[in-house]
Amino acid sequence: MIPPKTIRHILETTRIEEVVQDFLPLRRSGANFTARCPFHHEKTPSFSVSPARNIFKCFGCGKGGNAAKFLMEHEGYSFPEALRWLAKKYNIEIQEVQPTLEQLATQQEEESLFIVNDYALKFFQENLPGAGMGYLKSRGFTEAPIQKFGLGYAPDNWDALKKAATQAGFKLQYLQKLGLTTPSGKDFFRHRVIFPITNLGGKVIAFAGRTINNETIQQSNHPKYLNSPESPLYQKGQTLYGIHMAKQAIRRQDECILVEGYTDLIAIHQAGIENIVASAGTAITSEQLLLIRRFSTNLKILYDGDPAGIQATLRGLDLALELDMNVKIVPLPHPDDPDSFLRKVGINAFTEFITNHAVDFINFKANTLLSGAGNDPVKKAAAVHNIVDSIAHVPDPLKRSFFVKDCAALVGLGEEVLAQETAKTVRALAERQRLVIPRGSNHSSMLSPQKETYERYLIRLLLEHGAETLGPKEDTTIAEFILGSIEDILEHFEDPLCLCICRESIELVKSKQPVAPHHFTSHEDLAISGLVVEVLFKKIEPGPYWEEIGHFPSTHSNGQDQIVLITKAIAHLKLNMVNRFCEQNLQRLRNIPGGDETQTTRLLTAQERLNEIRRGLAETLGMVIK
Ligand code: GTP
Ligand code: MN
Repeated sequence: MIPPKTIRHILETTRIEEVVQDFLPLRRSGANFTARCPFHHEKTPSFSVSPARNIFKCFGCGKGGNAAKFLMEHEGYSFPEALRWLAKKYNIEIQEVQPTLEQLATQQEEESLFIVNDYALKFFQENLPGAGMGYLKSRGFTEAPIQKFGLGYAPDNWDALKKAATQAGFKLQYLQKLGLTTPSGKDFFRHRVIFPITNLGGKVIAFAGRTINNETIQQSNHPKYLNSPESPLYQKGQTLYGIHMAKQAIRRQDECILVEGYTDLIAIHQAGIENIVASAGTAITSEQLLLIRRFSTNLKILYDGDPAGIQATLRGLDLALELDMNVKIVPLPHPDDPDSFLRKVGINAFTEFITNHAVDFINFKANTLLSGAGNDPVKKAAAVHNIVDSIAHVPDPLKRSFFVKDCAALVGLGEEVLAQETAKTVRALAERQRLVIPRGSNHSSMLSPQKETYERYLIRLLLEHGAETLGPKEDTTIAEFILGSIEDILEHFEDPLCLCICRESIELVKSKQPVAPHHFTSHEDLAISGLVVEVLFKKIEPGPYWEEIGHFPSTHSNGQDQIVLITKAIAHLKLNMVNRFCEQNLQRLRNIPGGDETQTTRLLTAQERLNEIRRGLAETLGMVIK
């Protein structure tokens, strides 16, 4: 475990711009740096890195945080992994401390599950020599990829893994949670070669097993491949097989190749093509596309399916267009899959083939749909509508018109007609977009405008201006003033994180340290640093009567202005609290059983008192309330 002090030291030593620079080209823009956001699609850069605050923030998708958070988002690291990465970069020695018993007990279940998976990985690898290795060799796999991908073998035995793992001290409960042991206590994978499935950071989250007994494949209860069931570590549609191994190569070559099978991927990787991931049998999901797009917008799909399979694949790909990805399809000669085709023709012919036979997705779709429609005008019209719908998803108008042109020729319709249809669909899509929350935006903050915002606004004042004094001739700091005014209402705060920040600020004031953002952006608790980044950057608009709070006067402009403003902000916060109490009190009034006079009188008195307070606060704010 990394001690909290070291966490703070690492985060304070880290320079955010140096870390981000390792992954993205940054351009200076005044005091800050900007880049195209790696986490969402955009044409103009709204991703900003602030050396002064030592944080990054994207104004488009809302992601933001300190350097550790950046590594977690970008590289798929856990918090401790990100800290270790930073410690290495800045030559900081980490003296691990033994976690206390209590900490061990509350340590995240997730960590324990990863440890169990690591144990299983080793178990499968140790069992590879013999039948498993024989099978892999018979398929032409060499030592290097077998090592690199951590391939293994699950013995032909009912409970070899379960026995070994429980004897080594692992809880059966975890084995079952990961699906390694079935509810009836048997090993899930038996007599299969094992493909470990890792997350973006390279940690094992699940396994796939292929039977090495081809005769049994046809039997319905003996599938060719078995996948770990979903678990807290593994969500099927969000994972891409091989992404950890491929990410650098995808970035370097600015292209991602997608195949379907585990063995396809390994065979191609072994031949030297490393920018490759596998969807592993599922139709491609939006999460998978977003994952790929973090590394490149160019996607090439090697396809070996039948027409029905092709249709299924095509359906998921409109989203790729919307994300402004360039999708190409390479249909492979039937009946080969990438693995068998590569073996047949060799790597040079293979590379040449996938370069020369890559068809743009829209053209591919048009061709497939039209050939399926034959000469039936109704089917043809449906096909055209379908194609137009895809073209309409392309955000770039220029690209769109090229597609319209291509397709008009294919379909045998005038370009004009097709362009009109497309324009109509574009408008319809835009209308639909207007009605839904944009993808990639921070949903929770958009859905709950009122809740907690006054608390957050106050936190923002506290952190941005806390270290300043109330005026040129004043000793009292703004932090002291704010904290002094809210100390007695802290317990009613709605957001526990805001409460934490206030409590810690009070401690800072007591020990004569400045209350400033950097203390919290380098906080050892990731939730706190995350909230602070959010609060510092988010536009906070809690609703009516907000405008008259206006903007905070510039530093030292006039202490009186600042006091008035802070007082108003606090009055808003209190009013919000009192409104909440009023509602709770009314609720209680409604629920009193009939005839309980004393209780009714008591609550009515309370209600009157609350209303009095409300009116007082409203007066301070120059508001009129009923
Ligand atoms: P090999 O026969 O070993 O070469 O596998 P393949 O990848 O060529 O198999 P196929 O084309 O039949 O399937 C492609 C991918 O679909 C596989 O890599 C698996 O990810 C998945 N898949 C195939 N069969 C099954 C199955 O029976 N169950 C599950 N869960 N997935 C399967
Ligand atoms: Mn195959």
